[in-house]
Amino acid sequence: MIIKDARFIASNTQVDKCPETELPEYAFIGRSNVGKSSLINMLTNRNKLAKTSSFPGKTQLINHFLINESWYLVDLPGYGWAKVSKDSREKWGKMIKAYLGRRKNLVCVFVLIDSRHEPQNADLEFIEMLGTMEVPFVLVFTKTDKQSSVKTDQSMAAFGRKMRETWDELPMMFRTSSAEKAGRDEILDFIEQTNNQ
Ligand code: GTP
Ligand code: MG
Repeated sequence: MIIKDARFIASNTQVDKCPETELPEYAFIGRSNVGKSSLINMLTNRNKLAKTSSFPGKTQLINHFLINESWYLVDLPGYGWAKVSKDSREKWGKMIKAYLGRRKNLVCVFVLIDSRHEPQNADLEFIEMLGTMEVPFVLVFTKTDKQSSVKTDQSMAAFGRKMRETWDELPMMFRTSSAEKAGRDEILDFIEQTNNQ
């Protein structure tokens, strides 16, 4: 897919205030600092479309971007950052659950996982929640430029083994590096294929 046009539409804390649309929507979520906003910029080929930061907790709102006037990308705030207060964590939970449960045009959630780490409970718990809520999702292993390809294979396999403890089927898995623009075509092809269903 060629990205001809990508523009920011709105930031919201409430799902009811998100753009009213029947266009298909794809959301990006994962631990704080895993690279969600960077991946959105890489996919759209726009350096500063989504705001990125080396400091976790940069994205705090539900951010809608309209792509090619025909589908939405959504940048969501991350989870699992230790320094967040209990109050903020609860607010995050409420906002994300409302988003996932009520956004009718949501086609698929991309759950980003840092390819350098062992399986983390925060990711596994979030995935369990998606399962309970019956939200379709795929996994994206990020920052693969930071290590050898073999290490990324090992992390992905370890994550798959861990998931098999509770899941009968494994989701689709992608590997990406926003720094090296790797994995872009695979994700855009997936979006194109699922767009009209
Ligand atoms: P929050 O909005 O805080 O939840 O973070 P985020 O998941 O949106 O992460 P963001 O895209 O802001 O990236 C966090 C940091 O990781 C930034 O310093 C990025 O430059 C860096 N980063 C993101 N993706 C990659 C990647 O593929 N490779 C490398 N080397 N660094 C990356
Ligand atoms: Mg972000």
